Amino acid sequence: MAILPILCYPDPRLHTVAKPVAAVDGRIRQLAKDMLETMYEASGIGLAATQVDVHERMIVVDVSKERDQPLVLINPELVWTSPGKHLNEEGCLSVPGIYDGVERFDAVHVRALDEHGKSRVIEAEELLAVCVQHEMDHLMGKVFVEYLSPLKRNRIKTKMLKARREDAR
Ligand code: NI
Repeated sequence: MAILPILCYPDPRLHTVAKPVAAVDGRIRQLAKDMLETMYEASGIGLAATQVDVHERMIVVDVSKERDQPLVLINPELVWTSPGKHLNEEGCLSVPGIYDGVERFDAVHVRALDEHGKSRVIEAEELLAVCVQHEMDHLMGKVFVEYLSPLKRNRIKTKMLKARREDAR
């Protein structure tokens, strides 16, 4: 297993649209393991392949308090969304230290392959629903700050670039 480097906003690679996973093979299973290890190490609840610079449709999530309910979703597709939406405070491992409100469906059903290539439908609500929608956005090249006002987004961009310059010193 390996901890993978996470791309940081505003890295342009975060805006890459991911391609479907062609085959759930050993390489994909290894990537899933590495992504889970990376997510747990960073104390995150979700991670998209896009964030580790792999542009294939795969996300990992674990919203459990015990950190023992890992979910691997390969080629996820929304098959149902609830009529209602909710404003939730979100953060992202690619935008460290920034939290802001984003509207998401209250509940979603997602069809995806698991790490064994088996197709199933996950019925997600509450935090899991928010997390899955956030991670699926990453696969479309979308970071949550893009839902915020241009003013806020530019402030975040400036802050991130400044932090990176200080890190490089
Ligand atoms: Ni994120």
